[in-house]
Amino acid sequence: MAMDWAMAAGRWLGWVWLGVLAGCGGGKPQAADLQRAESMRPADARLAGKYQRSCLICHGNQASQAPLAGFAPAWKPRLEKGMPLLLAHVRDGLNAMPARGYCNDCSDEEFGRLIAFMAGDGGEGAR
Ligand code: HEC
Repeated sequence: MAMDWAMAAGRWLGWVWLGVLAGCGGGKPQAADLQRAESMRPADARLAGKYQRSCLICHGNQASQAPLAGFAPAWKPRLEKGMPLLLAHVRDGLNAMPARGYCNDCSDEEFGRLIAFMAGDGGEGAR
């Protein structure tokens, strides 16, 4: 009898936990998402070069807490802030995000393209 109750409670807690995992933050990146984040590059070779020595260091690496490149659920709440605010945060920095994201020779236009690239599925997205 007591065992039944404990099992039911355990199952209930399990569902709550699953709900927390699935519900908040739009899901967790899986191995394939991490692999894509590490390997995807902007199609434009010049931009890819800049990306590779700046944004990629953190945005291609889950351990950095940066929204993962190419992982849409991580970017959805960011994009909802609007591109002008995102650009301002790249220029000025935001918490662990350094000002200009280590790319001192990136123009605003390039920052915009890099954001669209990371927030998209690996294509360069809207420009
Ligand atoms: C040293 C690590 C690091 C580098 C390099 C880096 N980022 Fe970030 N970035 C972060 C972290 C961490 C966050 C999350 C900041 C937060 O929300 O607290 C972030 C967040 C962002 C955001 C979301 C800002 C917002 O308002 O939500 C954008 C856009 C962004 N980065 C763009 C870039 C671009 C473009 C580059 C390359 C030019 C870049 N980042 C390089 C660590 C980095």
